[in-house]
Amino acid sequence: MEMAEGSEFHMLNQYENEANVEAHIQTTGPEIWRQTEGKITHFVASLGTCGTISGNGSFLKGKNRDIQVIGVHPQEGHDIPGVRSMRQLEHTKLFRPDEYDTLVEVKNREAYDMCLRLTREESLIAGPSSALALVGALKVIEDQPDAVVVVIFPDNVFKYASSFERHFPHVRAAPPPPTRPGRAQSEGAASNHPGGELAQPAQHLGGGGPARGARGPGFAALPPRRADSGGLREADVAGG
Ligand SMILES: Cc1ncc(COP(=O)(O)O)c(C=O)c1O
Repeated sequence: MEMAEGSEFHMLNQYENEANVEAHIQTTGPEIWRQTEGKITHFVASLGTCGTISGNGSFLKGKNRDIQVIGVHPQEGHDIPGVRSMRQLEHTKLFRPDEYDTLVEVKNREAYDMCLRLTREESLIAGPSSALALVGALKVIEDQPDAVVVVIFPDNVFKYASSFERHFPHVRAAPPPPTRPGRAQSEGAASNHPGGELAQPAQHLGGGGPARGARGPGFAALPPRRADSGGLREADVAGG
């Protein structure tokens, strides 16, 4: 803030800047409309600055008033980077609830469990705010054959390794593969994994799950959670 007061720097302030909304009106919205060939029925986004939901919502409703615009927010005291709870949203200028059809709250646990499921079952390395949006969609949208649901996944999980570890403390890196004879120690396994810390757990987590594409990607691909599981069990986490 202080730096922005000088002439050398400019504070974009994505929480108040209308260009945030406008960028989605000019780019993301038209892309979604094109790619769904105008068949989109529901648009779902997690709520942070609210540029995504306000921009896309405005564009898509301009094309078809019936498109349902759904905002997903975390519980109070949440631990999901990039998004804001209802109380936090009160201070967000671009939050325009009158323009959305539905607001839905998702708990920390639900978002992180879904994050893990997406990795293990769909090979989608989505971050917790993406999983949050998907849980919200599954809570409020009926599984109708003609529903075309677009859920925004803003980020991948690699930036959130410490959050992920906090929620799944037993999900740790698998031991590095043995070093081949004659290979320098400094060329150890970690340097072969550009994803860093989580590249190894992701492999570890993936064991036993079907590869992406086995059932085809998309909203319909994610099977309902097993009735007996109130969250993923340790055996699931370990790939067992
Ligand atoms: C990881 C992550 N998730 C969700 C959001 C929310 O998007 P928006 O700010 O457009 O509401 C952001 C925004 O910066 C983000 O960084």
